[in-house]
Order: sequence, then structure tokens, then C-alpha cells
Amino acid sequence: MNMAVNLGGISMNNPVTTASGTFGFGLEYQPYVALQRLGAIIVKGTTLKPRLGNPPPRIAETPSGMLNAIGLQNPGVERVAEEIMPRLAALGVPVIVNIAGDTVEDYAQVARRLDSVPGVAGLEVNISCPNVKKGGIQFGSDPYTAAEVTRAVKASAGLPVIVKLSPNVTDLVTMAEAVAGAGADALSMINTLLGMAIDVDRRRPVLGNITGGLSGPAVRPVAVRAVWQVHRALPLLPILGMGGIMTARDALEFILAGATAVAVGTGNFVNPRATLDVVEGIEQYMIDHGFVDISELVGLAQRYPNKE
Ligand SMILES: Cc1cc2nc3c(=O)[nH]c(=O)nc-3n(C[C@H](O)[C@H](O)[C@H](O)COP(=O)(O)O)c2cc1C
Repeated sequence: MNMAVNLGGISMNNPVTTASGTFGFGLEYQPYVALQRLGAIIVKGTTLKPRLGNPPPRIAETPSGMLNAIGLQNPGVERVAEEIMPRLAALGVPVIVNIAGDTVEDYAQVARRLDSVPGVAGLEVNISCPNVKKGGIQFGSDPYTAAEVTRAVKASAGLPVIVKLSPNVTDLVTMAEAVAGAGADALSMINTLLGMAIDVDRRRPVLGNITGGLSGPAVRPVAVRAVWQVHRALPLLPILGMGGIMTARDALEFILAGATAVAVGTGNFVNPRATLDVVEGIEQYMIDHGFVDISELVGLAQRYPNKE
């Protein structure tokens, strides 16, 4: 049975990775997860300078998901390159660094710094963070600037580039086409949906940032739809699907919609072993249903309407 996939030039032993910001820099999870069993590790959003993030409270629970407004807290690219990457590289698992910036030049500089760092297998470009004032979603909601960021990162690093799209746009396919045209090697989707919660007793917003990003099972149908639509429009471009994956069956929805690989995010907070449960569950599904190569499953549900 073959579980290996190629995500836009990144070779993974299986299609399961971790969603940025929900797995720290990976090492925090070492006591719970045999990290070598993951297809890849995607680490926290990394910026040029260290960032403290947004004021607390930064997390709120909602009935079927969570709201967060972390605001890209991270130690900055220099420390990631010098201190964190050597420890991660020793694991022998492809590491994808999620990058963000306030300006196009910021993204380019972070990409340049990471380009020759051992262990970095690819860059995931976050143009879709709803929780930062500058950059973030500003870049991800306009096809022209999204393409500009993509081109700048591609020109600054020889690494595979995955562009992470936001669901907070009118037309996701237009965004996907714009970044594909600018050279993206793969797409990842979705980032969180912009949301808000109000504390009724205190009569004020729960989050220090007022609004935050909604993730978890509540967003899964939106994410599956996004993968489905974009895979239909751009069938050759690999997609990393995410949004509310808690179990292998959730992950299979994304793969059947057209995702080459999947990421577990909020699920890690509920069950630190969620990623491994997803790997094992997909394996079992393939055995039960007689599939020998994971690629047989990618986009398989897209065939269904064509049979009509
Ligand atoms: C606490 C938290 C922090 C996050 N930080 C980042 C980040 O730094 N960069 C990024 O691209 N996405 C970030 N995300 C978005 C996730 O990577 C993912 O796209 C989203 O949560 C949907 O997946 P999920 O429902 O499985 O969590 C964050 C999400 C959460 C919950």
C-alpha cells in the first residue's frame, strides 16, 4: 500500500501534516506524537522580526469550534533558522515553515533567510490571517496583491511554495487562479473564518482583539466546499486541505474532494494524537476498501456528478 504523496515538490511519506499555529514548532508535541510518523510538520507562522501577538484573551470556545486571535506571536525568522530548525531537521521529517509579513518585501526577506536552512522542505505563505492589522488578509483578499506576494516569495527562494488561501473572500477560485499564475506550487486552504463572540454577562467582546478566526468542526463544510471548487477549476495544482479535521473520516472528505494532503489544526488541542489517528485511520480505510495507492482517492468524489 502506498501512502506517499508529492505536495508541489515536497515528498511526504503520508498525506497528513499539522496546521500552522496549532502544533507550535512541533517539538512541544514530541511526548505525545511520534513525529517521524507524520507526512510533514507545518510550524507556526514566522515573521521577519519577533512578534508578541495580540492582547489577551486570545482564545474563545464556541459550540462547535474555537475563535482565536493570537496575532502571529513568534520568535522571528532568525531564531527559527538558528535555534529551532536544527532540532527539527534532526527528526528527518519534511518541515514546512509558514511565513507572514506586513509588506511584500517582508515576505521576500523571510523566504530568503529560510531558503538554505537545512530541514526546511517548503514554505507555506500565509496571506490569509484575519488577526493581524497589516498584511494577512489584506494580501489574501485581492488577487493582484496575492499574486505579488507569491511572485516575490518564488523569486526569493528555490523552495516549493504553498500559498494559503482565506475563505473570507467573495471568489476563492479567482484567488487560486491568481496565485497559481504567479507560480504557486501548491495551495493550502482554508485559513480561519472571521468571527466574533460577545460575553453577555460583561456585555463586551470576549477577545482582546474583538474579532478572531473561527476554526474546528464548524468550518469543515466550508473548507470541503473550497477544496472541491478549487480542485475542479485547477485539477493539476496540489491542494493541502484543512479546516475542522478531527478524524480520518474528516480527512478523507478533503482527499475525496481533491486534496493531495491534509492538515490537522484545532483537532490537536482536543486530541494531541489526532494526526496519528488520522494516518492510521486512512490506512485502515484503504485496506477495508481495497485501495493500494492514496492517489486513487484524490478527487474521487468529483467523478460522481459527471456520471449523471
Ligand atoms: C490557535 C491558532 C493559531 C493559528 N495560527 C496560524 C498561523 O500562524 N498561520 C496560519 O497560516 N494559520 C494559522 N492558523 C490557522 C490554522 O492553520 C488552520 O488553517 C485553521 O485553524 C483551520 O483548520 P482547523 O479547523 O483544523 O484548525 C491558526 C489557527 C489556530 C486555531
